[in-house]
Order: sequence, then C-alpha cells, then structure tokens
Amino acid sequence: MIGLFDRLSRPFLRALDPEDAHRLAIKALRFMPLAKAPADSDELAVRAFGLKFPNPVGLAAGFDKNAEVPDALMRLGFGFVEVGTITPRPQAGNPRPRLFRLESDQAIINRLGFNNDGAAAIHMRLAARRDAGGIVGVNIGANRDSKDRSEDYARLIETFSAVASYFTVNVSSPNTPGLRDMQQAKVLDDLLARVIDARERLRPRANLTPVLLKIAPDLTLPELDDVVGVARKRHVDGMIVGNTTISRPSSLRECDRRHEEGGLSGKPLFKIATRMLAETFVRTEGTFPLIGVGGIDSGATAIAKVKAGATLLQLYTALVYRGIGMVTEIKAELATALKRGHRNSLASMVGSDAATITAESWPA
Ligand SMILES: Cc1cc2nc3c(=O)[nH]c(=O)nc-3n(C[C@H](O)[C@H](O)[C@H](O)COP(=O)(O)O)c2cc1C
Repeated sequence: MIGLFDRLSRPFLRALDPEDAHRLAIKALRFMPLAKAPADSDELAVRAFGLKFPNPVGLAAGFDKNAEVPDALMRLGFGFVEVGTITPRPQAGNPRPRLFRLESDQAIINRLGFNNDGAAAIHMRLAARRDAGGIVGVNIGANRDSKDRSEDYARLIETFSAVASYFTVNVSSPNTPGLRDMQQAKVLDDLLARVIDARERLRPRANLTPVLLKIAPDLTLPELDDVVGVARKRHVDGMIVGNTTISRPSSLRECDRRHEEGGLSGKPLFKIATRMLAETFVRTEGTFPLIGVGGIDSGATAIAKVKAGATLLQLYTALVYRGIGMVTEIKAELATALKRGHRNSLASMVGSDAATITAESWPA
C-alpha cells in the first residue's frame, strides 16, 4: 500500500512547485484512508524522557507545521511526530518562492519563516486528538515581530502542556532574523529559566512535559560548550541536533540554487549534523538523551546517527526524494543490525562511535 502510494505520487508531486506539492501531500494524508503500519517489534522500542516510543524514527518539525495529520503519519510507521514550529500568533512567513529543491544534491533550501496557523487554531486540533495516543511533540518558536521572545516560548508552554507529549524549544531556525542569537549563553539561560519555570507553575494541574532544546549545526565548538552547559544547568530533558544549516558545503552540485538564502537540509547536511551530534554527545556525558536529525535517508545513515550519539532519530527531506516507504526500510535495517550484533535494544549502540568521530578532521 505504502509502496504503491510512493510510486504513484512521487513523480507527480516532484513535478509541482515544492510548496504546492507539500500542501497536496498534507491534503492526501488528511483524506486518504490509510491502513495502520504493522506493529513494531519490541527491540525497536525506545524509552526516553519518560516516554515509550514504539520505534526511534520520528518525523522532524516543519512537515506538519499546523498539526493537521500527526495520526496519519504515525499510521504510516513513524514512531513519533513533531508538529510546528508554532508561534503564539498566526504568521504568514516570508514571501514565495521560499522553498527550493536541489534535486541532484537530494537537498532542500527553505526560508519559510515560521508560517503557521498560530497557537489557538493548532491547540484546538491537538485537543481534538488528545485521546488518540501516540507521541506528538510540539515545537515552539517566537513571532517574528515579538517584543519579548522569551515570553512567547513561556506562553506556548502554558497553552500546549495538556496536549504535548514533549516540547521542543526551537532557537535554531535561520529564517527568523535574530532567533539563533538566542543560543548565546546569557540569553539562552534566561529563556530556559522562563520555560522551565512556566512548566513548573503548571505542575499541580499537569504532569511535567519534557522540554528539549533544538540547536543549529552551525555553532562553533566554544558556543556548543556554552549551550550544553546551560542546558545541563537548567535541566532540560534532551536536545535535538540539529536544525538546517546556513553553510553551503563545497560538494553541492546545484550551482544556481545553492545561493538561495535559507536553511539547507538533506543529504549534504548529514556529515556536519552528525559531527555536531557526536560533539554534543561527548559534552552531555549521558545527562540526557539526544535526537539525531540531518540527512538521514537509509538504514546505514540511521545507524551512523545512533553510533554518533542519537537515542532517537528524526528526518524530513529524504521523504521528498525517497518516499514514505523509507521509514519501513530504516526500521527493518535497524532491526537487522540489532539481530546481527545479538543486541536486544539500540541503547548499547548509542554513542559508540562518538569519540572516534570527534577526533576526525572537521567535515568540509
Ligand atoms: C521545508 C522545511 C521546513 C522546516 N521547518 C522547520 C520548523 O518549522 N521548525 C524546526 O525546528 N525545523 C524545521 N525544519 C528543519 C527540520 O526539522 C530538520 O531539522 C532538518 O530539515 C534536517 O533534517 P533532514 O535533513 O532530514 O531534513 C524544516 C525543514 C524543512 C526542509
């Protein structure tokens, strides 16, 4: 069924403007009757942040920005879905065109700029599906014209606590001017203090929802030292490494489109994001789990992320080039790797290559 969907829809969707294709894919997921993917085998289950994930392969933020189809995506085999980025007020984002396929690089550049329906509308959707189960993370950000960005994050924690399985504090998107400056130690410390405080204030009424921090792959190592230091001090529950990159690796083949402004994702992001993941892993010293994201497009790249330090995985761009069937393929290859190594969970593989990776020369 999934294979047929991929074969029929992908060539058609790829012929359309990328943003129209995305809209159509969301519509199809909303209205198509989808059979549930077969249950995941027990050894793929992952416990992290106090949650039990049926499998470690999640959908990264940005695909289902408005929480329209999280349940359809989980039916297709994702172990969890992260919706958003959501801002307090609705926002149109940057003018189109703002999404570019770099076909020969299997990459995307986007400068969408947090286009989303806003907290009230999205909260209604999530409240309506609250009893459906599954793990739905809520990725939060600030409005572009906000006077107090930290306050935006704190408010969103209050709004979504009862419907979010976890929160992602997104301070790493390159398309809201100045947002990534919130990764500076002093600003980040203030932000995380307010976010954690907002969560604590809800405690008598709601369980403590895990809070994760999503960072850019473009931080310098001294900046990463600070970020991990602040994350540990403020007791976040985990980190996501990472967002899209503003760098343009020399390997890129699409000469015209590489100069488009925005964040680059997909295959060319894999090496730099995996290096940053390993660098983060060695700095966290096991204090909290990491989600590895950036350029995952196969079982081999998924396993490499786990060995670099990822307890859980997320992907987005490869869906455009490889289709949804890839999720089933990745899960099968993870299960095979476990059998081959006589292991009964991925946990013992997490970070096994981190020391080696961090000793290599920096990826170009
Ligand atoms: C079109 C597009 C929109 C995105 N929007 C968001 C977003 O709103 N919030 C966010 O945290 N990340 C966003 N991302 C980043 C992804 O969540 C992910 O971190 C990044 O694309 C790297 O993963 P990939 O190489 O598997 O795509 C977006 C990515 C793409 C391609």
